[in-house]
Amino acid sequence: MKIIYTIQELQTELSSYKQNHQKVGFVPTMGALHEGHASLMKKSVADNDITVASVFVNPTQFNDQNDLLKYPRTLEADCKLLELCGVDLVFAPNVDEMYPEPDKRQFNYAPLDTVMEGKHRPGHFNGVCQIVSRLFDAVNPDRAYFGEKDFQQLAIIREMVRDMNYPIEIVGCPIVREMDGLALSSRNARLSADERENALNISQTLFKSCTFAANHSVAETKEMVIGAIASSPGLEVEYFEIVDGNTLQEVNSWEESTYIVGCITVFCGDVRLIDNIRYK
Ligand code: PAF
Repeated sequence: MKIIYTIQELQTELSSYKQNHQKVGFVPTMGALHEGHASLMKKSVADNDITVASVFVNPTQFNDQNDLLKYPRTLEADCKLLELCGVDLVFAPNVDEMYPEPDKRQFNYAPLDTVMEGKHRPGHFNGVCQIVSRLFDAVNPDRAYFGEKDFQQLAIIREMVRDMNYPIEIVGCPIVREMDGLALSSRNARLSADERENALNISQTLFKSCTFAANHSVAETKEMVIGAIASSPGLEVEYFEIVDGNTLQEVNSWEESTYIVGCITVFCGDVRLIDNIRYK
């Protein structure tokens, strides 16, 4: 496995694969890798001739500077995991390499990017589209892999790929959970033992809500989830929305769509956790 720091080096490495029409898989990350990322890497390694993983903490997608400063940076450990997963190239550029000049582009994918995370983290998805499009331009992959835990991000990236006509297949991969149900996240490392215990109520309530939804309305299911999590110790719900899985717009009844997902963001102490569950 090679670690590469510049776009030029990366393109030189990839040129022989491209010339031979070999398939390039790409997994963009911000590092602090865990088994959720490993599942994306393994899928890419199985599907493609070569897999490139990027590790880059993208400053333009953080609307909270404190969050950016606190974001864990663990390149050495990340590379060990990437090597075990069979990744061929790690692209780990610095900020100047990715943004030699400030990126002034504005990506507007309303209404996908104006709800949920888009409403609570203004500018976040603009930053995500800025970096993902730059990475796509640098890697020029055949397939790119994203986790369904960031459900809204995946929908927006699919839209950006359509809008910009990238010839890239976007592959969404299921959420990976701890044995007890907590969705894996780089932010889990910041939870104290007590917070880790409290955080478990998020996934447990979402799982319960699937059975509850079978004989309750959308509004009742929403109320149950928000009530149960808000009354759990140490948790504060930022939002819980039950949406159409394609349009991300709220639904009022279970009959409104054939694809319905509940998306939640919860503060556990000062750690912001997201999760989601598919109802149908
Ligand atoms: O999901 C992430 O880790 C990031 O948003 C991404 C896609 C790597 C862009 O920085």
